[in-house]
Amino acid sequence: MAMAKAILSSEHLGTLFHQARTHNAWHPQPVSDDLLRQIYDLMKWGPTSANSLPARFVFLRTKEAKERLRPALSPLNVDKTMQAPVTVILAYDLKFYEHLPRLFPMKPDMKNMFSSSAQLAEITAFRNGSLQGGYFILAARALGLDCGPMSGFDNAKVDAEFFPSTSVKSNFLCNLGFGDHSKLFPRSPRLEFEEVCELL
Ligand SMILES: Cc1cc2nc3c(=O)[nH]c(=O)nc-3n(C[C@H](O)[C@H](O)[C@H](O)COP(=O)(O)O)c2cc1C
Repeated sequence: MAMAKAILSSEHLGTLFHQARTHNAWHPQPVSDDLLRQIYDLMKWGPTSANSLPARFVFLRTKEAKERLRPALSPLNVDKTMQAPVTVILAYDLKFYEHLPRLFPMKPDMKNMFSSSAQLAEITAFRNGSLQGGYFILAARALGLDCGPMSGFDNAKVDAEFFPSTSVKSNFLCNLGFGDHSKLFPRSPRLEFEEVCELL
């Protein structure tokens, strides 16, 4: 099969995909606030519909902040989350459209389209917030960090604790840090192109 020449080196592709793993155990090496800012400043360039940028982020870096999350975690996610240097709550703002006049100035009417339909605003926020979550993971990997995304938690409890009386809803969590490769599970297989792709 003819291979297109990758723009990134195989080492870089490995950092983002082939060698990158979902981590469950963490080295104690801390993650600086500056690095968290760098992740955001990289991932923010990923595309979203109408440049809506609905994702919101809460970085839990202290024991006190982690303890606020603990009651919402599924039992199997507790220890690794408490051990991780940082846990980020990836959330989305249902009222993302308030920023659209600034973020999408070429179509000033877009704000009204979303503000007049809660259903459209919800699906747009969730779709694009989830996309931004994927950009976040890849940006963190590109900057040398390891990730441990998790959906095993009670969203309602997280929302009540971290986003009370707001239009922000939690999507998923992601532990961040420098993963202990010796504690990884064996890599699980992926579906092949022929199983999931159609060429029409
Ligand atoms: C959105 C999302 C939610 C996940 N939720 C959990 C979780 O709650 N607990 C857990 O141990 N792993 C969770 N995982 C980890 C996946 O099982 C893991 O990413 C997948 O098996 C691929 O592993 P690999 O990256 O090491 O190949 C989650 C992953 C994603 C992307």
